[in-house]
Amino acid sequence: MKKTDNQILIIFGASGDLAARKLLPALFQLFKGGFLPENYAILGTSRSQLSDEEFRTRVLTESTYIKHDNEDEQQIAAFAKKIFYQPIEGYEADYSLLSDRVRQINDTFKTDHNYVFYLSTPPGVYKNIAEKLYHAGLSDESQGWSRLIVEKPFGYSLETAQTLNKELQQYFKESQIYRIDHYLGKETVQNLLVTRFSNSIFEPLWNRNYIRHIEITNAEDIGVEKRGGYYDRSGALRDMFQNHLLQVVSLVAMEPPLNATAEEIRNEKVKALKSIRIMKDEDILRRNTIRGQYMTAEIDGKKVMGYREEEGVDPDSLTETFAAIKFYIDNWRWKDVPFYVRTAKRMPTKVTEVVIHFKSTPHSLFIGANKDNRLIIRIHPDEGVLMKFGVKVPGQGFIVEEANLDFYYSELTGSRVMEAYERLLLDAMQGDATLYARGDEVEAAWTFVDPILEFWKNGHDVRMYGYAAGVWGPENSNDLIDGDYIWRNPCANLADDPGYCVLC
Ligand code: BG6
Repeated sequence: MKKTDNQILIIFGASGDLAARKLLPALFQLFKGGFLPENYAILGTSRSQLSDEEFRTRVLTESTYIKHDNEDEQQIAAFAKKIFYQPIEGYEADYSLLSDRVRQINDTFKTDHNYVFYLSTPPGVYKNIAEKLYHAGLSDESQGWSRLIVEKPFGYSLETAQTLNKELQQYFKESQIYRIDHYLGKETVQNLLVTRFSNSIFEPLWNRNYIRHIEITNAEDIGVEKRGGYYDRSGALRDMFQNHLLQVVSLVAMEPPLNATAEEIRNEKVKALKSIRIMKDEDILRRNTIRGQYMTAEIDGKKVMGYREEEGVDPDSLTETFAAIKFYIDNWRWKDVPFYVRTAKRMPTKVTEVVIHFKSTPHSLFIGANKDNRLIIRIHPDEGVLMKFGVKVPGQGFIVEEANLDFYYSELTGSRVMEAYERLLLDAMQGDATLYARGDEVEAAWTFVDPILEFWKNGHDVRMYGYAAGVWGPENSNDLIDGDYIWRNPCANLADDPGYCVLC
């Protein structure tokens, strides 16, 4: 196990939802697994007036996000001793009480002046927090180290992301800044690198000579839930595509890195992102992008609200809950290979997967379902890898049928698969930024996304298609795909063929 230095984690926005729902449960798992260093403490801060004890009760002892059984109770009690809380008047206010508390905990717990600051606050205050920490001497690394983790959204556009990068980099060096993207914390997303770069059977085929197109689907069956206010200002493109899905694209498309260090991997990812052909012309944007919004429908006998009826959403909203984009990557490897990426809320099931669609055989000899080979990398659920290939149907002649070669993570015995936040928090504690987005990666992603957003906002003749909640998006979304191909509308079970899903 890699060594983890003694340290304090300081969570800004600690009374919020993310801390209770994701961060503290992940930290508790790390504690139970013996991954936290001997000298470790957590200090929560926000504007809510809470005592240490009230904070512990809220995020730990009475939390519904943490499993409470007899076995865990003792561990919870031991973990609680490491948790503290210090209110602040505002993120722009004076930080002297907070910095005194950090130093006092550092002295008591002997954490060697090593600090991770986690910003789980609205992005509008990131700059203030970084600046205040800097002036309090807490970004200084002369006695220990100091790291800043920032949550998404990282910017609202290219310009705002650039501004935010500059603002943070005034107070923290780039190497101290960790931009979290929880998709990179998923085992299956990391496995994209291993599938590609540790198997000699895949990598030689991973290019324009053998691949017809690449398809990435991210579907959620839920709507915007209680987040209508946030979502209506964001939309599918900003919420999922600019960050999580372009990160997945970069891992699928990147060149082999020189080695597996954070900088080399991120250098290749950024090169891939910068090679995506930017679409600026309105005609091109019209032909290569589709947006949609879910409309009211009945699912399993229950009426489901349309997007515009959701709480916090403008009844005339033009925010997309479905986005499908076709694009090209202008480099040697990917010349003329279309990438199709779609993301949406209120689809039939929750699923994220990458489909590598290989070219047809050059000359067709046999009759039957002579389908193209496809490699399906399932990110969630039923995590695994599925290869579709043709086999001979027993009997006379040469009739071909499609068969599956499949692997499931659930079949791996041994170590427990860490949740994304556990993995990412542990990496930041150990100073490993491989699975965090670098400033230039985020900017490259915005450079591609900005003109699409601009076209959807101000372009001529831009359509917003409605789709009934619970279907695979607007009917015309298949028109995006070249030739006789359509989207693979996957089932929850990886190996089920679309159209024959096992529902329970
Ligand atoms: C978040 C988005 O970043 O990712 C949400 O803001 C979305 O809208 C979520 O539901 C999806 O994450 P996952 O891990 O459930 O696919």
